[in-house]
Amino acid sequence: MKTIDSDFYKNSDDFFAANAGVGLTYDDVSLATCFSDVLPRMTSLATSISDKINLSIPIMSADMDTVTESSMAIAMALHGGIGMIHYNMSFADQITEVCKVKTYIHGMNRHPATITADLTIGDVIEIIDRNGYGFSSFPVIDKEGRLLGLVRGGVVKNRHADRKVADVMIPRDQVLTINEKELGNDPIATADRIFLDHIGTNKLLVVDDNNYLKGLFCLSDVEHIRDEITTDAIRPSRDESFRLRCGASVAVPRYPDGKVNYDALNEHVSNLVAAGVDAVIISTAHGHSAGVGECVRFVRQHFKELTIIAGNVTSAEGVEFLADAGADSVKIGQGPGSICSTRIVAGVGIPQLTALYVSAQAGKAKGVRIIADGGITKSGDIVKALTQADCVMLGGMLAGCKEAPGKIMEINGKLYKEYRGMGSMEAMRHGSAARYGHDLRNSKVTKVAPEGVEALKEVSGSVDQVLTTLAGGVQSGLGYLGAADLPALRKNARFIRVTSAGQRESAPHDIVEIKQK
Ligand code: IMP
Repeated sequence: MKTIDSDFYKNSDDFFAANAGVGLTYDDVSLATCFSDVLPRMTSLATSISDKINLSIPIMSADMDTVTESSMAIAMALHGGIGMIHYNMSFADQITEVCKVKTYIHGMNRHPATITADLTIGDVIEIIDRNGYGFSSFPVIDKEGRLLGLVRGGVVKNRHADRKVADVMIPRDQVLTINEKELGNDPIATADRIFLDHIGTNKLLVVDDNNYLKGLFCLSDVEHIRDEITTDAIRPSRDESFRLRCGASVAVPRYPDGKVNYDALNEHVSNLVAAGVDAVIISTAHGHSAGVGECVRFVRQHFKELTIIAGNVTSAEGVEFLADAGADSVKIGQGPGSICSTRIVAGVGIPQLTALYVSAQAGKAKGVRIIADGGITKSGDIVKALTQADCVMLGGMLAGCKEAPGKIMEINGKLYKEYRGMGSMEAMRHGSAARYGHDLRNSKVTKVAPEGVEALKEVSGSVDQVLTTLAGGVQSGLGYLGAADLPALRKNARFIRVTSAGQRESAPHDIVEIKQK
């Protein structure tokens, strides 16, 4: 039924049709409230960025060298989002960062460090020192990988250095084990039950029918995960093996003549996949371009199961192009980033909300997810972005967190962290030039126009604090729109444009603020 409301407050299609040809961004619009029987705290923010990767909160951290390395990615995954590890480092370092996320407390360790019975305890101590292990219990296996026993940390002491592992290990028949077939659908619950029945034992080894070692559970990990499952409404983002999820950024590697170097691409992605990466992100300033399309197609052909995120584009054609090449998610945003100067330098880009609407139409038709990348400065922007997108990517909002790379610096009594665009001169010098279609190894720096700035962000506490505030704000938005989840938000969203007076009215005004928002 047509009401006065429907003349004024328009659903997405009507609103953007009425504003065709006008570039709008978050602050240009507001959302109208709807009748609601939904309490904000009861709303679900669950989303997905591919058929395989579900998230409890629709937020990912940007693949920028001042935003996401392993600490950020771990914090993001623990809070139900996901972090994208940047590529402004050597491949080996990037793989190490991915490994740190994938080996962070998880259920069953499928590749536990092992020792053989012929070693001495002195040898074991040396192995621990060399590898920097923070533990000293080891399954003992024979040369083929069959379980022989377990060395407990208590005997790995210098005073036993000359003793043979074979003489001090707990023999196979006294080690707590389970056949992998008996783990069932919920291995953590099974392991937890077994530990409860064997108080005082803190390692459970998993074997197959032929006694080959298949994994290890540590009591402390299992307890941690059980606490998390029973107490947290927001589930950490984990893979099928209970490891935290993370993504990693991949450049378009090129030969000096500009052709894509498929060997380098293959090697890079193969190593990331071997390290357990959940998604690769082919992140460039101009995703609707031949090289990015070729890369996505190549990765899709050779890594059929891998989640691919590609971008950035701001048009329906761009989304179709990357979807046809094989991307699962397409990243939208050219120019909205807080450190971005693309629109000033190149005169190119589309205000973000319009770009999202146009892209989302193609995303729906092609069955790919849409990620709103850049320009988000408050939780209300996320609500508006999610009326079109499946997930948002944040740079600046996370760059001030203690988990972001880089040191905290003090200036005039205030604490800051560095935050810079990947297209800034300094970041490009460290490797990200390819993202902006430059090659600093072969061209003079003076010929390259930076499209990002180097800046500072005030220190903003921990990822936990930032995400809790943001997720709470998004849940409020859903509550106002009577939406129990993100699909309902999309359905219920009705927009109105706001004037500059309306924008002024939208933020606290005509007061003396004594506390920061
Ligand atoms: P923010 O969340 O508004 O700070 O924007 C972060 C996003 O800006 C990133 O995810 C990138 O898509 C984009 N970005 C990163 N570096 C640059 C740059 O140097 N120029 C333009 N855009 C950038």
